[in-house]
Parts: sequence; structure tokens; C-alpha cells
Amino acid sequence: MSEKLIHTRPVLLLVDDDPEIRDQMKWALASDYQILEALDRSTALAHVREAMPRLILLDLGLPPDIDGASEGLAILREALDLNPRAKIIVVTGNSDRAKAVAAIESGAYDFIEKPVQLEVLKIVLQRAVYLSNLEQESSSLLERAGQHECEGIVGNSASIQKVFDMIRRVRPSDVPVLITGESGTGKELVARAIHRQSARKGEPFVAINCGAIPETLLESELFGYEKGAFTGAAQQRNGRIESAQRGTLFLDEIGDIPLTLQVKLLRFLQDHTIQRLGAKETIAVDARILAATNVDLKKAISEGRFREDLYYRLCVVTVAVPALSERGSDVTLLARTFLTKFAEEEKRPLKGFTPQAVEALIAHSWPGNVRELENRVKRAVVMAEGKYVTPENLELKDPSSVEEHASSLRASRDSREKDLVRLAMEKAEGNVSKAAAELGISRPTLYQLLARYGLKKTKPDDQKEKA
Ligand SMILES: Nc1ncnc2c1ncn2[C@@H]1O[C@H](COP(=O)(O)OP(=O)(O)OP(=O)(O)O)[C@@H](O)[C@H]1O
Ligand SMILES: [Mg+2]
Repeated sequence: MSEKLIHTRPVLLLVDDDPEIRDQMKWALASDYQILEALDRSTALAHVREAMPRLILLDLGLPPDIDGASEGLAILREALDLNPRAKIIVVTGNSDRAKAVAAIESGAYDFIEKPVQLEVLKIVLQRAVYLSNLEQESSSLLERAGQHECEGIVGNSASIQKVFDMIRRVRPSDVPVLITGESGTGKELVARAIHRQSARKGEPFVAINCGAIPETLLESELFGYEKGAFTGAAQQRNGRIESAQRGTLFLDEIGDIPLTLQVKLLRFLQDHTIQRLGAKETIAVDARILAATNVDLKKAISEGRFREDLYYRLCVVTVAVPALSERGSDVTLLARTFLTKFAEEEKRPLKGFTPQAVEALIAHSWPGNVRELENRVKRAVVMAEGKYVTPENLELKDPSSVEEHASSLRASRDSREKDLVRLAMEKAEGNVSKAAAELGISRPTLYQLLARYGLKKTKPDDQKEKA
């Protein structure tokens, strides 16, 4: 790659058949970018191969198809094949929304309409550089870091690496482990990983969701029963604890277990024996206990809903699974992993996410954690029409939508306007008529502007007195 350092001026390739437009752009952009030029496909692709520009400004209407977009779109696709990370901004006519959309779906970073407003173009380019820097940083971090996966748990962030480390550390022992974390963070996945890494891996992993089974059934489900133990107990049945013999018992949503059963469970944790309902004899069960909860058990203890002694038995080791929002670039790593998996399952030839979709993934707060991400990507794979998944497919807001651009433009215009008004008022020493004349606007308009920007109509002398 010719641009080894992120902080050198980024290389920008201009592809336009009109020399006047190229000159105009060069004039406006040369101080911030190293500019390369091309007027046709072969020169453009030669530059992409040799210089690997991070930014490409591409006119869609190139000969031989000046009124269409076929040549521009062909360059777009070939350039992305050569360098999938290139940020390509296409230039379209101002009534060519369909072409712009086609370009975005083929992987363009953004589009800009003719006649190109240089201010808008500069903002779009700055954002493209910013995103490109982020991508470079995160991919070099990925290359440097060690493990991206542990028993199906994908992640590279420091916070998930801590979880991997805990899984490795509890591997050889039989101590109970309490797994905490918000809903959808991957607690069950962690439990299965602990089992698979332990010496018990060839034995059963029995999961029971204490929150999903009605209270009246939970006891017989966990402990089993003898024939005739209660009306309807026509057969003897083993409980789930017993079926985890030599293996691992995973008590999910442990916070939902009723107090009466907590006592019985505590007894099992203390002496490793159980009694089926209606039985006289006790049965020894050798099972490792893992438990998970998405509620704060300490709070449940203080409210009298959870036994403290059971809590201390369960939480000999606690593994806290972080929320997805605390895992940095794992969001995009996981999104890509899910995309590859579902695209293969659904036999959809998807190549990845549009840059807007990547931005939207980063901007979202993920209250439903990994499960939410998994579901959004699954749906997007089915909904996507182009080769790249868009924010719309993910049902996420596009952070680079036209409105967002418009609002950042409006903000910069407002601040400039405010400066001009203030300057004119200072020059006119507070005389509104003079300042209005200087600005070439009417007095009422100037009054409106003064009010909007909270500027005073007073003379500088008055201001000095007040200060
Ligand atoms: N780091 C990860 N890598 C890959 N897949 C993950 C990861 N974390 C979670 N998943 C997937 O996300 C989904 C939710 O995970 P899981 O069921 O383990 O979460 P949970 O914390 O038990 O949620 P809940 O509290 O709602 O039961 C599963 O389909 C799981 O395979
Ligand atoms: Mg779960």
C-alpha cells in the first residue's frame, strides 16, 4: 500500500472525462489530498491497482455511456473488487436518484449531485477519511490481537477476552460458576463453552430455564418423582439434575427460582445428593453447576427474593458477560460473522455491508445485545436486494442520510452567518441601519438575525459598560 501512514495526505482519485471539472476539483482539494486523475476506465483501474487510493470521486456518466451509468458502475465494481475498502463517492445528475441508489447498492460510499457544491463535497470526503481511518485502525488491531473466537463465542474486544480468559481458568475445576449479563449477551453460549472445555465434555450438558417452567412443575422437573408421588404420577421419572450425572447442569434464569425450591437446591449443592418427590432414599449426583442470571441477585437478596446462602454457593466464580455496547469493534466483527453465516444458509450472494450500514451498526446502542444484532443481520440477509446490506435492510437509521448532511451544512452556515452579522454590527458601532446596509439586507431581516443568534443591538460602548 502506498499510503503507509494514516496521517499523510490521503490519496484521492478523480475519475471524470471533463478536464474543466477535474481542474476545478483539483484546485479545491489539492491542499488536503494527493490527487490522481483518470478520464477512462483503464487509467482509473491502473491507478487503483498501483496506488490503492482510499478515496475515489467517480463521475457515473462516462463515455461511451455519457447519459447512462453503465461505465461508471462498471468502474465502481471493478475498483471495489481490487480494493474493497476504497470509499467511492459517485457524482450523478441531479435527477438521477435511481442511479445513485444503484451505485450505493453496488458498494459506493456516498453520492453527490451535479452541480457539485464544493462545501458539501469537502464534508463528504472528510467523513469518508474518518471512516477509512477507523477501519484501518480496527483491522490492524485485529491482526495484532490473538483470539477472535472461543467455542463459538466471537469477539476481539478486551472485555470479551476477559471472558475467554475466565473460561480457560475455570476449565480444570468443578467449582460452580455464576454467569451474569444482560439479556442476549451470550450467557448460555458461555455456559456451553465452559462445559466443552472441561473434562466433562463427553458427558451430558443439561440446561433448564427456571424462568420458563411454571412454579408447580419446576420441582418435579428438577428432582424427578416416584410412581404415585402425586395424582397423575403414573410412572417414576428422573429429574433433570439426575440426568446431568457426570456432566454439567446449567440453571438458567436462576433468579426466577421460587424460595421453597431454593432450599432444596441449596441442599443439593451442599451434599451432592437429591431425593425424588415421594422417595425415601437419596441419590448421589455428580454434576457441575453453572447458573445464569440477567437480574441483580444482590438486589433480589436485599428484597428477600433470593437466599443469600444459595447465592454464595453459586457464585464461587462469577463471569460477567459484557453488554454488546461495551465491546467496541466486536459489533462489526460479529455482524460480518453473522452475515457470512446467514448468506451461506440462505444462499444469497451478499458481499458485505455498505459503509452507511457499518456506520449505522457502530452508531446503534444495541439494547438487545448480540441476539438483537443476530436477528437484524438475519432479516437483512433476506431483505437485501443488492450485493451489500444497507441500513434500511437492517432497519437502522442511516447516519449519513441526506437530512444529516443537510443539518451539518445548516449548522456551518449558521455559524458563519452569525460571525458576519456580529462583524457588521461591530463595524457599524451598533447602528442597525448601517450594519444592514453593509450586509445588503433590510433592517427587519437584520433584527430577526440578531434575535436568532442572541446578539445584542447595543453599541460597543454600552457593552463595555456592562462587562
Ligand atoms: N460472542 C458471540 N459470538 C457469536 N454468537 C453469539 C455471541 N454471543 C451471543 N451469540 C448468539 O446470540 C444469541 C443469544 O445468546 P445467548 O442465548 O447465549 O444469550 P443469553 O445471555 O443467554 O440471553 P438471555 O438472557 O436472553 O437468555 C445466541 O443465538 C448466541 O448464539
Ligand atoms: Mg439465555
